[in-house]
Amino acid sequence: MTLTRIVASIAAAGALAAIAPGAFAEDSIKIGLIAPFSGPFADYGKQMEGGIKAYMQQHGDKVAGKKIEIIVKDTTGPVPEVAKRLAQELVVRDKVDFLAGFGLTPEALAVAPIAEQAKKPMVIMNAATSVITTKSNYIARFSMTLPQVSGPMATWAIKNGVRKVVTLVADYGPGIDAETAFKTNFLGGGGQVIESIRVPLRNPEFAPFIQRIKDAKPEAVFIFVPAGEQGIAFMKGYRERGLAEAGIKVIATGDLTDDHVLPAMGDAVLGVITTFHYSAVHDSPENKAFLKSFKEANPGAGRPNFMAVAAYDGIHAIYETAKKLNGKIDGDKAMAVLKTMKFTSPRGPIAIDPATRDIIQTVYVRKVEKVNGEVYNVEFDKFADMKDTGK
Ligand code: PHB
Repeated sequence: MTLTRIVASIAAAGALAAIAPGAFAEDSIKIGLIAPFSGPFADYGKQMEGGIKAYMQQHGDKVAGKKIEIIVKDTTGPVPEVAKRLAQELVVRDKVDFLAGFGLTPEALAVAPIAEQAKKPMVIMNAATSVITTKSNYIARFSMTLPQVSGPMATWAIKNGVRKVVTLVADYGPGIDAETAFKTNFLGGGGQVIESIRVPLRNPEFAPFIQRIKDAKPEAVFIFVPAGEQGIAFMKGYRERGLAEAGIKVIATGDLTDDHVLPAMGDAVLGVITTFHYSAVHDSPENKAFLKSFKEANPGAGRPNFMAVAAYDGIHAIYETAKKLNGKIDGDKAMAVLKTMKFTSPRGPIAIDPATRDIIQTVYVRKVEKVNGEVYNVEFDKFADMKDTGK
């Protein structure tokens, strides 16, 4: 650039600013969506993007006079360095207003310091280890936490006469949280945990663990594995090794019977009891509208799961925040709005707890049953207004 051109462009920028204060480079609201879109956890990103598309199909791509721009970034899986680099690029180069997504805890933990430094609101659409929201004041979580959904499973089991269990969890943040919360309520209710098994996050080989469970002869096995293929693999091994015949029941968080993979699990999963915040068969007008727009916006994508719902709610919260701020996004002001968010989600009533920026919601007890010939998590009991209990 020559000096005259620099001067000319500064003058032009100045003139623009004079005509429309603050409008410079601000005609859109940019949201960086960070999640796995490839590798074994690729469905996480696809579900989130699907939920966002469903919302935008219903509500349009403009809010408070600004165009909503989603910039999608693929972390490839639980790779903290990649998540961190992508967040840095989104903040520095793309100048995003919000960071969103986060399928896996390691992605969220890696990005938290960037949100904190850059004062960028970080809207969590899955990552569910309790401690995440303590890592930056700019985080609000619209998904769930593992303690929130695991404690109720133990409470329900005790109430229904189960006294002796083995636990099996993925060996990282959410798994440890699930194991801890389950144990706290189960031991507190007079139950006994005879063995606690932790399996690797990546490509666990379930067969030897399933044999160990069988040999321990518990009344039930409590499971947390990250949603997706691992649930299918576990349930296949459980059936093949005859645990059902040995009288060992499966109780789990709903990650195991995630709606997206449930149809592929078939009859192997009938009767499994889980506690969770979302089921595709949840009976409400909001859920019907969500299912309809998800289908329309994502032809051939199959059933939406809890990650699609958390993304649908997370983007709704961003739209509401943009409206309240008249389209001018400032990190601190946006957080003040986000942390008092309260509305009816397709899953039921939700609110953000202003003290922790974590979600308060109903946790349902469900049983896998056939509904019109298809397997679903049918809700039959609930724990209202559950907070995270992990911090
Ligand atoms: C997480 O990494 O926080 C996570 C992943 C999958 C789940 C739940 C939690 O199903």
